Amino acid sequence: MSAFDFYTLTDINWHGKIALLRADFNVPMVDGNCTDDTRIRAALPTIHHILENGGGVLCLSHLGRPRAGEPNPARSLAPVAAQLQNLISQDVVFCRNWPTQQPPPGAVWMLENTRFNVGEKENSPDLAARYATLGDVFVMDAFATAHRAEASTSALAQATSACCAGLLLQAEVEALKKALFNPTKPVVAVVGGAKVSTKLAALNNLMQTCDYLIAGGGIANTLLLAEENPIGNSLAEHDMLGEAKKFLSAHADKTLLPEDVTVVDGSGENIRVLRLSELSDIGDGRIVDVGPAACAAYGRVLAKAGTIIWNGPLGWFEQPPFSAGTRALAAMIAASPAYSLAGGGDTLAAVAQSEVKSGISYLSTGGGAFLQFIEGSPMPGLASVLKR
Ligand code: 3PG
Repeated sequence: MSAFDFYTLTDINWHGKIALLRADFNVPMVDGNCTDDTRIRAALPTIHHILENGGGVLCLSHLGRPRAGEPNPARSLAPVAAQLQNLISQDVVFCRNWPTQQPPPGAVWMLENTRFNVGEKENSPDLAARYATLGDVFVMDAFATAHRAEASTSALAQATSACCAGLLLQAEVEALKKALFNPTKPVVAVVGGAKVSTKLAALNNLMQTCDYLIAGGGIANTLLLAEENPIGNSLAEHDMLGEAKKFLSAHADKTLLPEDVTVVDGSGENIRVLRLSELSDIGDGRIVDVGPAACAAYGRVLAKAGTIIWNGPLGWFEQPPFSAGTRALAAMIAASPAYSLAGGGDTLAAVAQSEVKSGISYLSTGGGAFLQFIEGSPMPGLASVLKR
């Protein structure tokens, strides 16, 4: 999929029309309170556009992965509706039960968690037809769920007579297109995180575009092991060594592995920095971060980047002593004049922890969807609102 010619909000005459707005309100919740409302805020431009142009909005979203047919109060969208009400300063009617009528123009309503409904996960046309009775136009704005074919992200486009992308979806796709399809060179990809297996398809696709890959976390450890460096008890996927070797034989010239690493010994007390040549001393230790020489080398590559794509931390950044590498990386990306795009839950947490949000050109709301787009795999929720 390379052309993304969406129907857009401006293709619709909103006067008197009701939007079935699929947003991604899958936000972190602690004790019934939303602890990060970034995804709710991200839907506001679309909601405002529809209201300002004479329409009404029925919001649809999932929250978590509840079992269908068994409404679970811990996965209710009620707190999200309350938070949206605070943000838009107008009533948001929360429909705990299936509504008996459509919302009127000017109103904002929210349906209970779509995944409580039997057929949602199965992309049921029958469920989509029921959703369609509640509004006129399907608006797909849930970029973070666009990799899922569910009744409210996919089948609903066929059940309504009109559909379009929301402003968030458009912005997300524009950012990814800019970084992947028409990038300013050189392109530097930074891919960290625990498992090479979950990112191999994205890595392989990225290598077609990018000039350098900075690998971090368990992914770098697996690649280091594939090059026969001893890595002690570090996080790595031993069953991916064959794939890792294949990857390196194709892309070693573009791939930067850390020159030095921060290591903790078996009991986790003793912190050492080892150069790769010293890794024979790792014993039963674990690599938990990149070292200062690695950061300096990454800085030299990032300094000449035209585009930077970042997904995944370089080490165990949740633990303050081991966040130095990821924080240094975040600061270097933010300071770079390159176009920078970051996505994924851990990556955004690292950006927030490093207090560099404003320095990154685009922060995606997508996790799995961000990766799937990078892989070049089908995105049913994007396909649903393409012009036909
Ligand atoms: C996400 O948080 O990545 C999206 O909301 C998708 O959630 P899911 O993985 O449960 O489909």
